[in-house]
Amino acid sequence: MKTKLVRTKKSLKPTQIMTPPWATREMMALIGTKKFSDEDTYLFEPSCGDGSMLQTCCEEIHKVLLEKYRGNKEQALADLCFKFYAIDLCSEMVVKTRTKMYEFLKSLLSDCNKDVFSSYILARIIHEKIEHKDFFEFMKGKQNCGNK
Ligand SMILES: C[S@@+](CC[C@H](N)C(=O)[O-])C[C@H]1O[C@@H](n2cnc3c(N)ncnc32)[C@H](O)[C@@H]1O
Repeated sequence: MKTKLVRTKKSLKPTQIMTPPWATREMMALIGTKKFSDEDTYLFEPSCGDGSMLQTCCEEIHKVLLEKYRGNKEQALADLCFKFYAIDLCSEMVVKTRTKMYEFLKSLLSDCNKDVFSSYILARIIHEKIEHKDFFEFMKGKQNCGNK
């Protein structure tokens, strides 16, 4: 994850460079994706940008959950929905990530479950799991909780 200056014809403009999927997959392999089948292992994305890194991580976690639930798509998806939490300081990025993750999670639903109700539930979950927040403010709240 880094911010880079890109040379345009007139000036240098700051732009955001998202982590490419291949790098994310290598990172997940280093962490060891198997541990995401544990009940108490979750993914936290502190600055999710456009959500491509989050989606790649979730794709890898989904593979592990499908194995855990022996190919049961509904169980794997239900578990995946509660395996991640992401934030970003920029509200436009949050919208991009929510849209991307909604389409991704919907693609994991079995055809017979792609009804309006399931789509509504997914949209609600995504709203809760991807939020517009400053990482440093968020961590302050966590540290206070830990000190109680
Ligand atoms: C280069 S993108 C990285 C996105 C993703 N993590 C990746 O690696 O592909 C950096 C993101 O960090 C966000 N960001 C910067 N400061 C932040 C903060 N204090 N709290 C949360 N997000 C922040 C920016 O809005 C931007 O979307």
